[in-house]
This record gives sequence, structure tokens and C-alpha cells, in this order.
Amino acid sequence: MKTIFSYKKATVLGSLILLMTASTVLLNSCAVSKKISQRSGVQLWAENCQRCHNTPSPATFSPEKWETVGLHMQSRALLTESEREKIVAFLKQQ
Ligand code: HEC
Repeated sequence: MKTIFSYKKATVLGSLILLMTASTVLLNSCAVSKKISQRSGVQLWAENCQRCHNTPSPATFSPEKWETVGLHMQSRALLTESEREKIVAFLKQQ
């Protein structure tokens, strides 16, 4: 009887620890996405555009062409609408 009781206690404790770990991970992931949304165009460009190829220099394309490249690379790089807008705005400025 006593062993069954402490086994249950251990299970409850284990579940609690698991729950706490899970919520910490969830909270951390929220913090990370908030940070990403605060990134500037130049930061997003430097971090994302060299994952697959060399980072393209802003001087490579005209502002109109950057619009098109931005849309194309948004789907490849899985960027959000606002991330693409920031990156394209940075690339067009130069
Ligand atoms: C997931 C991989 C991936 C990421 C991330 C990525 N690209 Fe690309 N990019 C490609 C591939 C593959 C090509 C070549 C084929 C194509 O044009 O779709 C390419 C081609 C290009 C080209 C050449 C297009 C042309 O017409 O010559 C430019 C410019 C470019 N990428 C810019 C960017 C920018 C800016 C970013 C960051 C927002 C970016 N890429 C992020 C995969 C990626």
C-alpha cells in the first residue's frame, strides 16, 4: 500500500515538473518571437538572406526589382509580411 502511494506521489511530482518545464519553454519561445519582430531590416537581411546563398548586396538590384525578389524570397525564407517589408525597405534605400 505504501509503495503504491509514493509511486502516485512521484507521478504527480513528475507531471508538475513536466508542466513547469513546458510552460517555461512556451514562455521563452514567445520572448524570442517578440525579439524577432523588433529586428530592423538590416538585421533581418543579415540573419536570413545568407542561410541559402551569399547575402545579396543592396546595390545588386533596382528598387523595383527588390520588390519582386522580396516576394520570391519571402516564401523561400518563410518570412512574415512585416519582415519582408523591412528587408525590402532596407535593400531599396541603398
Ligand atoms: C531557403 C533558402 C533561401 C533563403 C533563406 C533566401 N533565398 Fe534567395 N534564393 C534562394 C534560391 C534557391 C535562389 C535561386 C533560385 C531562385 O531564384 O528562386 C535564390 C535567389 C536569390 C536571388 C537571385 C534572384 C535572381 O533573380 O537572380 C536574390 C537576389 C536573392 N535570392 C535574395 C534573397 C534575399 C534578399 C533573401 C533574404 C530575405 C534571400 N534571398 C533568402 C534561396 C533562398
